[in-house]
Amino acid sequence: MGHVHAGSGGPVAILYSQKCRTGFAQGKGKSLMAYENILVERLEGRVGLVRLNRPKALNALNAQLMRELADALHELDRDDAIGCLVLTGNDRAFAAGADIKEMAEASAIDMLNRDNIAQWDRLAALRKPLIAAVSGWCLGGGLELAMICDMIVASESARFGQPEITIGIMPGAGGTQRLTRAVGKAIAMEMILNNRNLSADEAARFGLVNRVVPPEIYLDETLKLAREIASRAPIAVRLAKEAINKAFENTLAEGIATERRNFYFLFATEDQKEGMAAFIAKRDPQWKGR
Ligand code: CAA
Repeated sequence: MGHVHAGSGGPVAILYSQKCRTGFAQGKGKSLMAYENILVERLEGRVGLVRLNRPKALNALNAQLMRELADALHELDRDDAIGCLVLTGNDRAFAAGADIKEMAEASAIDMLNRDNIAQWDRLAALRKPLIAAVSGWCLGGGLELAMICDMIVASESARFGQPEITIGIMPGAGGTQRLTRAVGKAIAMEMILNNRNLSADEAARFGLVNRVVPPEIYLDETLKLAREIASRAPIAVRLAKEAINKAFENTLAEGIATERRNFYFLFATEDQKEGMAAFIAKRDPQWKGR
């Protein structure tokens, strides 16, 4: 154990954090949970940091990763020593979406029964503020994950998009609803229907992200913001977050339900099978419209 340096010039993890091949979340010596797909650190200034850690797959969000992420964030959410949460990936990718290889052969009924997107809902139920620190690819489910966070700090290198249409499906974890609310209907349509990606500066201009900073400091800047929020009155922060989300979500719920039904339905189409198979085989898809 002891001190752990996270990234160049990055934060110093104190107390119980430990970084090794697997991530460990340890709370006051009480619990020890090993994670395979994320790294968890408790940092000075009452900040809990979770890193997505499937670098070879550009942090593609498979079911196990999402379960681990929801478990770890909820453990930090319940910890009185933590005031604010930060979620990040690595310099190349925040996350390149839901894991296409895991979904490629799934039927609509498989998708309905697995209901993996329920893990995204668990993140939306966190009480403490959650800030995304985004560098590189932030696509599909990765962007939907970032948008569930309460704020987004972007590196200049960040690229935001909803490319699901290119593999024969549509966003299924809140994208059609949260992106539309964040950037407006016209830009959301272009991103979701025609795979338009946004640069970090465009994302800031359209109101998707809080600020854009140089790649070397995006995590430090996010942690600074998190420490400031963590220093504020905890109950007020919690209730204010809840109130903002209430205003935001009252009309969201129906949209999410519709979106999910439609997303799962797409797994009954031949184009979904073709789109995902083509991605994996690294060839162009042949659409049939059925
Ligand atoms: N799922 C599974 N594996 C993925 C992945 C994903 N979403 N994104 C990337 N990977 C894997 C690649 O298959 C590749 O693995 P191999 O080395 O085994 O071939 C590895 O990560 C590196 O990726 P690339 O070689 O493709 O890297 P690149 O730099 O050439 O391209 C990229 C980067 C443009 C992001 C490209 O990887 C890409 O287009 N990824 C898919 C993006 C996407 O379609 N996301 C939406 C997923 S569906 C979804 O998210 C549904 C939802 O709403 C819940």
